[in-house]
Amino acid sequence: MKITFVGHGYVGLVTAAVFADFGNQVFVIGHTKKKIEGLRRGIVPFYEPGLSELVKKNIDAKRLTFTLDYAPAVAESDAVFIAVGTPPTKTGDADLSTVLQVAEQIGKNLEGYTVVATKSTVPTGTNKKVQRILEEMKPAGAEIDYASVPEFLREGTAIADTTNPDRVVIGTESKRAQELLIKLHEPIGAPILLTNFETAELIKYASNSFLALKISYANAIAKLSEAVEADALKVLEGIGMDKRIGNMFLSPGPGYGGSCFPKDVKALISIAKDNDYAFSLLSEVEAINHQARRDIVRKARKLLGDVRGKKIGVLGLAFKPNTDDMREAPSIDVISMLMNDGANISAFDPKATESAKEALPNISYVDNVYEVANGADLLIVLTEWSDFMEINFEEIKKRMKALNIIDGRNIYDPEKLRAMGFNYVGVGR
Ligand SMILES: NC(=O)c1ccc[n+]([C@@H]2O[C@H](COP(=O)([O-])OP(=O)(O)OC[C@H]3O[C@@H](n4cnc5c(N)ncnc54)[C@H](O)[C@@H]3O)[C@@H](O)[C@H]2O)c1
Repeated sequence: MKITFVGHGYVGLVTAAVFADFGNQVFVIGHTKKKIEGLRRGIVPFYEPGLSELVKKNIDAKRLTFTLDYAPAVAESDAVFIAVGTPPTKTGDADLSTVLQVAEQIGKNLEGYTVVATKSTVPTGTNKKVQRILEEMKPAGAEIDYASVPEFLREGTAIADTTNPDRVVIGTESKRAQELLIKLHEPIGAPILLTNFETAELIKYASNSFLALKISYANAIAKLSEAVEADALKVLEGIGMDKRIGNMFLSPGPGYGGSCFPKDVKALISIAKDNDYAFSLLSEVEAINHQARRDIVRKARKLLGDVRGKKIGVLGLAFKPNTDDMREAPSIDVISMLMNDGANISAFDPKATESAKEALPNISYVDNVYEVANGADLLIVLTEWSDFMEINFEEIKKRMKALNIIDGRNIYDPEKLRAMGFNYVGVGR
């Protein structure tokens, strides 16, 4: 099949490369000349494990083409996917300006029969709006069916999530579009859920918000565990063993971040509000998430007394391991609060140093975990990179000024570190 993706971010580029690898002819449309020129040479503008190799392989096989132009890609395609960003506006709604703009361009360039589908996460009602734009813009003779095909991949494991998803949701009532999209997704072999537009749109927000809710629940249990001297990790392990609950997304820490959960929770609250429903459960999820960041800072203040002038080393900046994505990363809030208190911060992240510099321009970036420890009064772990699991604490001990550690991701053994003389503070333990 010939298909086009508009947008080459985590969703657009990963899905495009995977579908090319299945043998389809795939066009990717971007809007930045420099990035498209780079992509043509196999340069991926962000870090995602295995993606550069997959992109290069499919460029060499002539199955993956990058372009700035809608013509002839859209006209030649059987299906066109919209995979551009939908960041939050100031009021928490999803900013749909790019989706709508892109829809106009697609519409103008349609030829023959085409299925146009949104992969971007968009509020209920958007797909009907996009369909109207396409119908208005399409040249005479062009015919479209429209679908919402929300994406569930996770950064860091995006290729595996795309080739082996838990489900594929296809939101369209057109039988012809359903057949085409089912055929396209056949090599994936995942269960397929057929819905209308609105259901598909809501599934995406409802599932991300539920995962965010699980994380906030874990943080609430962690807070309570600290108060009653229970071990939150055991409590959460205990509840996660119940198959009805499951053990994933039940790790306490500095809260959820990234480009999806914070914006999708906000957007679902906003969708509910527009429909006269106060989704206060999700407002509380957000409040607990903010509190989780403040709790890390509170623990730093407790360990150090006055934070002013103290040197704090931060291990991990990205919002989660195996990505360089800094959007809404807990590190930004935690470090900003500590800097407001007058702390000097040095930090190390295996991949996110460059992307962190925009949000955190006034900290020192060092090249490895041991340099972070040099002269530090406190170490704080904010991302659970595997690189941090096996560090030599004898060496860390020699370099630190005071042996304080806040293990914001609970990756170390408290007993072992305490036996070595560290003041160890975890989350909920
Ligand atoms: N990142 C994730 O883990 C993830 C997972 C599932 C769903 N989503 C959703 O998918 C959508 C895309 O997310 P993402 O993380 O890939 O975003 P991203 O910010 O990584 O990428 C957005 C892409 O859109 C392109 N773009 C912006 N304006 C454009 C224009 N006018 N014309 C053409 N291209 C344009 C950008 O160049 C970029 O390639 C969002 O709605 C997001 O919520 C993201």
